[in-house]
Amino acid sequence: MPHSYSPTQLPDREVTTRLMATPTDTNVAGDIFGGWIMSQIDIAGAVVAHKRAQGRVVTVAVNSLQFHQPVYVGDMVSCYAQISHVGRTSLTATVEVYAVRERGRAECYKVTEATLTYVAVDDDRQPRPVPPEQS
Ligand SMILES: CC(C)(COP(=O)(O)OP(=O)(O)OC[C@H]1O[C@@H](n2cnc3c(N)ncnc32)[C@H](O)[C@@H]1OP(=O)(O)O)[C@@H](O)C(=O)NCCC(=O)NCCS
Repeated sequence: MPHSYSPTQLPDREVTTRLMATPTDTNVAGDIFGGWIMSQIDIAGAVVAHKRAQGRVVTVAVNSLQFHQPVYVGDMVSCYAQISHVGRTSLTATVEVYAVRERGRAECYKVTEATLTYVAVDDDRQPRPVPPEQS
């Protein structure tokens, strides 16, 4: 996907999570650990799933995940999540991750994208129907 390797711009919509990648998040090579990015993705997906489900959700599956570019220490990492499908008790979220890095001037790259499925659960951790969307 050549577009993923070219500088781009942050989406013109509300950001779900934003965090700076720090040295504590690195792998042995000194780049940001993929598991840290996956954690940010899961949190961002859960934020929109929780909002749409009006309550507790759990992650049931990571359907797809692709790392397009590395993330470096100091990058500002932004996750943009949106609900792409609502089932009876499940919700699928698409999460796009962008890194803004300073290289003399700020450059923005789409570094990762993923889709995850969440399930709305009740107090007993059992699936519950996703309520109708609030207007
Ligand atoms: C999520 C959980 C409550 C689902 O329980 P379950 O008995 O399998 O529930 P169901 O079979 O009725 O499935 C519930 C929904 O999830 C969907 N689902 C289940 N497994 C899925 C999978 N692997 N991928 C996509 N969707 C899945 C079902 O299609 C169903 O969706 P729908 O109601 O919209 O049609 C249960 O599997 C669980 O607690 N898992 C652990 C969750 C967790 O702890 N996550 C954090 C890990 S650290």
